[in-house]
Amino acid sequence: MLENELTKPQHILVTGGTGYIGSHTVLALLQAGYEVSVVDNLSNSNREALTRVETMADKQVKFYQVDILDTPALTRVFEENSFDSVIHFAGLKSVGESVKNPLTYYQNNVQGTMNLCQVMHQFGVHSLVFSSSATVYGVPASLPVSEDMPTGQPTNPYGQSKLVVEQVLQDLRSSSENWQIVILRYFNPVGAHESGNIGEDPNGIPDNLMPYISQVASGRLAELKVFGDDYPTPDGTGVRDFIHVEDLSLGHVSALQYLESEPGVSIINLGTGRGFSVKELIEAFSDVNHVQIPYSIAPRRDGDLPSVYADASLAKQLLGWEAKKDIRAMCEDTWRWQRNNPKGYN
Ligand code: NAD
Ligand code: UD1
Repeated sequence: MLENELTKPQHILVTGGTGYIGSHTVLALLQAGYEVSVVDNLSNSNREALTRVETMADKQVKFYQVDILDTPALTRVFEENSFDSVIHFAGLKSVGESVKNPLTYYQNNVQGTMNLCQVMHQFGVHSLVFSSSATVYGVPASLPVSEDMPTGQPTNPYGQSKLVVEQVLQDLRSSSENWQIVILRYFNPVGAHESGNIGEDPNGIPDNLMPYISQVASGRLAELKVFGDDYPTPDGTGVRDFIHVEDLSLGHVSALQYLESEPGVSIINLGTGRGFSVKELIEAFSDVNHVQIPYSIAPRRDGDLPSVYADASLAKQLLGWEAKKDIRAMCEDTWRWQRNNPKGYN
C-alpha cells in the first residue's frame, strides 16, 4: 500500500451539517483531520454557517443542497464520493410544530432516515452516528437517567419519531452485521462556539430556554416566562442537563473513532451528569454577562418534566469523552454569539 493511502483522511458525510449542532461538529471534524461533505436542504439553517466554519478551520467542505427525502439526489451524492461514515443530524426538531404537523415530522425524521440508510446500504456504507434525544426516556423512572433504563412514551410526534428511528436502526443491525451504529441521546444542547462566529439561529420566537434568555438579554424579547415554580425541585423550577455544543460536537468525533473498532449498535447519553434549574440558569447568565433578564412566573408548560439529567458515565467508559465546559462558559459563549450576531446569520 502506498504511504498516501495509509494517511488518506476518512471522508465523513454530515447530514444537517449547516444546522446548529451540525455546524459545530463539522468544525470539530475538520480540526480533527477528517474530510467532510455536507447534505442539507437549508430548511432550518443558512449556508453562511458553513462558510464561517470553512474560514475558521481554513479547510473546504463539499456542500450539497439536497433533501434527504429526495432519493435520486442523495444517490448522486454517494455516486460522487466515497464515504467512510455518516453523521446524521438532518431532521425537524420543534416539539410544538410536530404536534401540529405530525405527518411532516414522521416523513422527515423517519422516512428521511430510512432513505439515507437505503442509499448507504446500496453504496456499502454501514457506519452511522445518529442524533437522538433524551426525550425518548419519556418520564424517567429515576435520576440520573442511564441508557439501560427503558425508553418511555414521548408525549409528542417529534419524540416518537426519534424512538421509531432508534428501533429502525436496531432492526437494521439485526438484519446485517455490517452495520455499525452509535445512537447519541443528547440532553439539552446550549451555547455557541467560543469565537462567537457560529451558534444557534432559531427561526422566529425561540421555544427553548437558552436562546430565549439571550434574546431577552439583548432586548429583542421583553421578558422571559418561567414555566412553573411549583415543581418538586430545590427552587421549584424545572431542572435540566445543559451541555455545551462544543462538548457535544467533540462527542461525535469520539463516537466516530469508537465506531472503527466497535461493531453493533451502541446507545450513549451525551450530557454533563449535572442538573441546573431554570432559575439557576437565569442567574448564571445574568452574573456572567452582567445583563438583566426580566422574568415572571407562568403556568407549567404541557409535557414538561420536573427534572432530567444524565448518567454520563457510559460515554466516558466507551468513548473516553466527557463534557468539559461549565455553565459559565455556556452562558458567556451564548451571549458572545448573540451580541456579535444580533440577527443570527442574516
Ligand atoms: P437544526 O435544525 O439546527 O439542524 C438540523 C438541520 O437539518 C438543519 O440545517 C435543516 O436545514 C436540516 N434538515 C432538516 N430536514 C432536512 C431534510 N429533509 N433534508 C436535508 N436537510 C434537512 O437542529 P440541531 O439543533 O442542530 O439538531 C440536529 C439534530 O439533533 C436533529 O436531528 C435534532 O432532532 C437532534 N437533537 C437536537 C437537540 C437540540 O436541543 N438542539 C436535542 C436532541 C436532539
Ligand atoms: C425540549 C423538548 C425536547 C427537545 C429539546 C431540544 C419539550 C417538552 N421537550 O426540551 O423534546 O429535545 O427541547 O432542546 O418541549 N422554559 C421556561 N421558559 C421558556 C422556555 C423553557 O421556563 O421560555 C423551561 C422549561 O419549562 C424547562 C426548561 O426551561 O423546564 C428547559 O426547556 P427547553 O429549553 O425548552 O428544553 P426541554 O423542555 O428540556
